Amino acid sequence: MSDRAQTTPIRTELGLGELSAVVYKPGTRVFREGDPGGCAFLIERGQVEIARHAEGGRHVLAVLGPGELFGEMAAIDGEVRSATATVVEEAELIPISSAQLEKKMHRADPLVTLLLRVVLDRLRSTQRELCHECQPEPSPSGLRALPDRLYGMARARAVDQIKLGKALRDALERREFELFYQPIIRCGVESTAGFEALLRWHRPECGLVPPREFIHLAEDTGLIVPIGLWVLETACNMLSGFQAHYRRLTSEAPSLFMSVNVSARQLEDPADVDKMLAVIRNSRVDPGRIKLEITEGSIIEQLDSAASGLEKLRDLGVTLAVDDFGIGYSSFSYLHRFHLDTLKVDRSFVSTMLYNEDSLQIVRAITSLAHELDMDVIAEGVEDVNELLRLREFGCGYFQGFLCSRPIPARQVVRLLKAPPPRLAHRAPAGGAAHGKGRRR
Ligand code: C2E
Ligand code: CMP
Ligand code: CA
Ligand code: CA
Repeated sequence: MSDRAQTTPIRTELGLGELSAVVYKPGTRVFREGDPGGCAFLIERGQVEIARHAEGGRHVLAVLGPGELFGEMAAIDGEVRSATATVVEEAELIPISSAQLEKKMHRADPLVTLLLRVVLDRLRSTQRELCHECQPEPSPSGLRALPDRLYGMARARAVDQIKLGKALRDALERREFELFYQPIIRCGVESTAGFEALLRWHRPECGLVPPREFIHLAEDTGLIVPIGLWVLETACNMLSGFQAHYRRLTSEAPSLFMSVNVSARQLEDPADVDKMLAVIRNSRVDPGRIKLEITEGSIIEQLDSAASGLEKLRDLGVTLAVDDFGIGYSSFSYLHRFHLDTLKVDRSFVSTMLYNEDSLQIVRAITSLAHELDMDVIAEGVEDVNELLRLREFGCGYFQGFLCSRPIPARQVVRLLKAPPPRLAHRAPAGGAAHGKGRRR
């Protein structure tokens, strides 16, 4: 390794951030057969020979060039190097550490991780059978302990995921889903403006499963399309019931709205969008009272495939909200392109705004941006009355959060609507007019 020359920072397409390429002179051994692992190498330039020592002498397995990877086996499974790597033509190599690979594998689909491990184990045992004499030294136990644990975890996660996928496929038919509703409150007058419908799964033997544990899988498998349609239909029907209750209570009350979360996947196929349009039309609720929430991430990442679906829904009269606004994206051009009505300030800013000045400024900035663009603002995750006070100061129109209510089942909504509006002001000084634009309310 002493023949290494300068290092150059390089950004690859591997999503590993900036990595440093190291230049190696011809003849350098990058590692020897039997060495402990530690990292894999991506060849940026030059050539590397992979060879093993068999009884009859040296046996060249491959000469690898730019774009190829080597040393991945020991980097993944913690065994020793299965061959020797020698630079044959000055080479620029990018090391990728086991720790980086491990992090990636942790985030990868558990089934893919498991398959990788199985294939690698089979390759190792084939290599051993082919070469009894040069069988690698048994590796130190510390080195294998971690990968074995990971292997066990990968297997358990893969099995869990396969079971979850199967159970999810049956859940709709077995009527295991339920919608909970979280009130969305006008900041100024503290009256209920609407609800957000949030999906829950009563999984037999597992109890109530929150959406973060299955929505991703539903999206990956496409099951979100029928599930999302059921959510939309149920939420529309419930809205009609809630509105009827509300009208009976107070004749002058403005009618409620219902926010429904929509995944980009539901907007990809025009036939699926037509089904959503039909559900809304058949529900007999005013489409202007239905707000579809789409995360900022999916609007940006699936801009083209979601565009025509969003436009059709918009033409029917539904309003559109950008969910989780403010995290990780900086392009605002889409806000105008889709005539979006509402920005939902992500909970991560709201929940830290009382002690983190940056969060406070971000909430303030998002609120004024929304006003500039003639959009409403809903702050998510309000738990503290002092957060509500600051939101009022900024002119934020609406909030939702545990301060007022957790998401609740439909029967409790009916009770909540019968009760006087939630009183929070007694815990806070009065004042702070609502500046929410409320164009459609
Ligand atoms: P989201 O759309 O951002 O929904 C808000 C989440 O914040 C809800 O979690 C809600 O219970 C939680 N929350 C609200 N106020 C507070 C608070 O004051 N403090 C805290 N700690 N949390 C609060 P939930 O119901 O577990 O939903 C998680 C996510 O799952 C949702 O995030 C949404 O992205 C997704 N989701 C839920 N239902 C559906 C659905 O029907 N379709 C799709 N595509 N996604 C859904
Ligand atoms: P590793 O075992 O970490 O170190 C030696 C590397 O040589 C190994 O990972 C693979 O990247 C590579 N290697 C092993 N066998 C072959 C082969 N038959 N052809 C090409 N490369 C190989
Ligand atoms: Ca939402
Ligand atoms: Ca959100």
